[in-house]
Amino acid sequence: MDGTTALGGEPAPARGYLLDNARAEAGERFVWLAELFDGVTRGHFDRLGVRAGSRCWEVGAGGPGIPEALAAAVGPTGHVLATDIDPSWLKTGGGYEVRRHDVATDPPPEPGTFDLVHARLVLVHVPDRARALATMAAALRPGGWLLIEDADTALQPLACLDDSGPDQRRANRLRDAVRELLTRRGADLRYGRTLPRALREAGLVDVAAGGAFPVGGPACDRLEAATIRHVRGELLAAGLADDAEIDAHLAAIHAGKLDLTLAPLISAWGRRPAEDPSALG
Ligand SMILES: C[S@@+](CC[C@H](N)C(=O)[O-])C[C@H]1O[C@@H](n2cnc3c(N)ncnc32)[C@H](O)[C@@H]1O
Repeated sequence: MDGTTALGGEPAPARGYLLDNARAEAGERFVWLAELFDGVTRGHFDRLGVRAGSRCWEVGAGGPGIPEALAAAVGPTGHVLATDIDPSWLKTGGGYEVRRHDVATDPPPEPGTFDLVHARLVLVHVPDRARALATMAAALRPGGWLLIEDADTALQPLACLDDSGPDQRRANRLRDAVRELLTRRGADLRYGRTLPRALREAGLVDVAAGGAFPVGGPACDRLEAATIRHVRGELLAAGLADDAEIDAHLAAIHAGKLDLTLAPLISAWGRRPAEDPSALG
C-alpha cells in the first residue's frame, strides 16, 4: 500500500499503476516481457504494414524493446514516438522520440497523423479505457491501424497449469493474490476478451484478433520472480501472503521446476476508416 490515510482514519485505497516504473524490478520485467512477447508483437507490425517511412506511436512503452524495433523498421524517413506516464526506462538517442504522456488524461499527440498506434499490457491498468482508446484512435491517420495487446488473466488464471505439488499450488495461490492487488487498483482482468468489441465501438473497421501465451521456460520464471519482488510489500501489507510463503515461492522459482506460465495475450487490431473521396469538396 502507499501508506496514505484518508480523513476519518480509514486507510485510503492505493491508486494508480501497481507495477510502477520507479522500482528496479520494473526494468527487469521489461526485459522478460520483451523476451516473451516482442516476437509476437513484431509479427503484427509486419502484417499491418509497418515499413520504411511509417509514423508510429508506442503508448505505455515501458522499456526500449518495442520503440527500438519500430525505429529499425521505419528507418530515418519514418518517425517513432514512445510515451509513458514514467518514461525513465526509455533511451534518448535510440532512434525514437520520448515523451511523458498519460493516455488516460492527455490529448493525443499529433492527432490524425500516425500509420500505427500500439499499446501492449497498458490499457488493462487504465481506469477509463474507453477514453484512452478514443485518444489513440484520434491519433491515427485515415486508414491507420490501432493494435492493442492486453492480457486476459481471467481466461487462464493459473501460474502453474500442471498443479502437481505444494510448490505449484503455492504459486497458484500467490498468482491469485497478485491478481487481487491488480483488481483493487482498478485493473480489468477480463479486458483482453473485450478488445475486438472495444475497437469497433471506437469506430474502427476491419477488426480482428488473436491470442498467444508461453507455457514455461526461464523468461517466465524471471518475470515471475521480478513481479513477486516488485509487489512483495503490497502483498504483505494487504495480508494476502506472508514472508515465509513468498520466500518459499522465490526458492521454488529459482529451482526451475515450476513450469510457470502467463495469462494469454490477446492482440486485436482495427483500422480508422479511410476518408470517403466522395465526401471531399
Ligand atoms: C506492464 S507495463 C508494459 C510495458 C510495455 N508496453 C511492454 O509490453 O513491455 C505497463 C506500462 O504502461 C505504463 N502506463 C500505465 N498507465 C499508463 C497511462 N495512463 N498512460 C501511459 N502509460 C501508462 C506504465 O508506466 C508501464 O510502463
